[in-house]
Amino acid sequence: MGRVAAGRERGSLYNVNPPIVIAIDGASASGKSTNARIVARALGFIHVDTGAMYRTLAWYCLKKGVDVHDAQAVTALCRRWNATLECVGGEARLLVNGADPGAEIRTVQVSQATPVVAAVPEVREWMMQTQRRCLQFGSLVMDGRDIGTHIFPETPFKFYLDASPGERAKRRAAEGIAEDIAARDERDVRRAAAPLQIAPDAIVINNSHLTSNQTSALILERVRQDSQTTSLASQ
Ligand code: DC
Repeated sequence: MGRVAAGRERGSLYNVNPPIVIAIDGASASGKSTNARIVARALGFIHVDTGAMYRTLAWYCLKKGVDVHDAQAVTALCRRWNATLECVGGEARLLVNGADPGAEIRTVQVSQATPVVAAVPEVREWMMQTQRRCLQFGSLVMDGRDIGTHIFPETPFKFYLDASPGERAKRRAAEGIAEDIAARDERDVRRAAAPLQIAPDAIVINNSHLTSNQTSALILERVRQDSQTTSLASQ
């Protein structure tokens, strides 16, 4: 089969060896996680929401009373915390002391603390090692800010999702979250360690006027086309 399979052939590339990675990067509320999840389900790949991993560390800092602005303290915690990877229902995630923090990583306090811990270079290094280890679960659709640029720069499947700031703020508001999108963009783009950038070989999709189904269909179409011209064609 020289192609990445459609939904009806779900799972047929699950055990591709070596596993392949579809990188989906983009700014806040650009639809990365929603689309990554749809694409992963369609292909039978594992979805990895790397934002959730950074959120988990920020959540744990707050829980342990570690000042997120103290980079040394955050680094020390990150080096000694008992965080393990698990894969359940097609989703890879971090457990802390064997437990899933669940919705606790989505609070306003955690959302505010996350970009601060994500700017610490030692944290990003730890995340890189951990995110790369997700390959143990099989082929991946990984979403984040630096997947195509830093975590899996070798993958030929790179996408960058974007939408207008107004549309992204509307999406956050619809989720009941009042977020200063411009401020978050500014922090993500300006930080010294692995700033939000578009990989030169990424396919950019502006989905301001697209539904998630339309966006994920574009990604799937492109993956299937490109897989015919990459090493997958020989699988
Ligand atoms: O995607 P999200 O909103 O859950 O991400 C939370 C924060 O984590 C966001 O401010 C940027 C940061 N992040 C990052 O720096 N690198 C990633 N790969 C994913 C998220």
